[in-house]
Amino acid sequence: MKSSILGAVLLASASIVSAELGVRECFLNNTPKLLGYNCCRNTCSISYKDDDGNWGIENGNWCGIPFTCYNGCWSMPDYQCCRNTRVSQYTDSAGNEWGIENNQWCGIIPQATATTRTTTKQIPSSSPSPVGDKCNWTEDFNSLDETRWNLNSGAECMKVQGGMFIDSVSQSCRGSGNGGRMRTNVRYKSGKFEVRAKMPIASGLVPAIYFASTPDNTNGSQDEWDFELIGSNRMQTNLFINGQGGREEVWNPPYDLSRDFHTYTFEWTSNSIVLKVDNQVVRTFNNPMPTQPSYFILTNWMCVGCDGWTGPADWSRQPYDFIVDYVKITDATCI
Ligand SMILES: *[C@@H]1O[C@H](CO)[C@@H](O)[C@H](O)[C@H]1NC(C)=O
Ligand SMILES: *[C@@H]1O[C@H](CO)[C@@H](O)[C@H](O)[C@H]1NC(C)=O
Repeated sequence: MKSSILGAVLLASASIVSAELGVRECFLNNTPKLLGYNCCRNTCSISYKDDDGNWGIENGNWCGIPFTCYNGCWSMPDYQCCRNTRVSQYTDSAGNEWGIENNQWCGIIPQATATTRTTTKQIPSSSPSPVGDKCNWTEDFNSLDETRWNLNSGAECMKVQGGMFIDSVSQSCRGSGNGGRMRTNVRYKSGKFEVRAKMPIASGLVPAIYFASTPDNTNGSQDEWDFELIGSNRMQTNLFINGQGGREEVWNPPYDLSRDFHTYTFEWTSNSIVLKVDNQVVRTFNNPMPTQPSYFILTNWMCVGCDGWTGPADWSRQPYDFIVDYVKITDATCI
């Protein structure tokens, strides 16, 4: 690979750079694979790229571009480092951990060097004794427990503030639908799911609390069932099985859902899924029932061009905040 090119640029370089300092930094993040070369000490300029990493030239010799060239972000320049997640979705052959933000891969900075975190609160490195188990827990949003949650799309549109989770839709947010989507890391098979939330209302806007069997909502054959507030004070419920929907119903609440906090509940057992608002049954699914284990998801998005469904997108009062006080999951089974 590099050697042929190397021959051309290799000048008589008797003094092999002793770059122990730099080497350690290169090795720490395993990028690039040094293959006997040293880390660059005085350059961040990339002369050559291959599967092993990014290479510069110093003293006529190849050198590995160290991650320090990118403020500690080892996945640069090809990928940003993760800003709001430390949940690893993939470990590459070099041992680097990768997360997903805004549907893009991002490099997870090893904890010791993770210093910046823009929109969410600092996540304590040792969470105070977690309440509950893998499936059953209460999230009060005093912080965002990323062992539970995955900021799946539009991470920069979501934050935790004042004990609340806030998902803001605005034109400056680059998430899909100009808002954020956060899902659980585990997939559920049953349980009681209670969310206390204040949902925003605007023409075109669809804040939703729902389940989906695929991690990123893109697979057309997913199971999905939802509470969706569709553009006005109308709550739609729906169930998709293997991508087949067509079970929409609309509940017109006797009060304005955007004015106050209300409790939205799914009671999911092997026989039925009961949807309640403030303990009032709004919808029951029992025939057919979804069969695929599913993620529990909070989202807020603007459906641009969905005039017939949600009304035309109204940006006049943006940002639109979907505010969640807590999520309480009990009697649950999950994988
Ligand atoms: C969608 O999910 C089904 C069932 O899990 C799977 O067979 C199919 O390959 C997936 N399709 C895509 C595009 O990911
Ligand atoms: C969650 O709670 C239910 C009901 O108490 C229990 O059956 C289940 O085993 C719990 N899940 C885990 C992972 O412990």
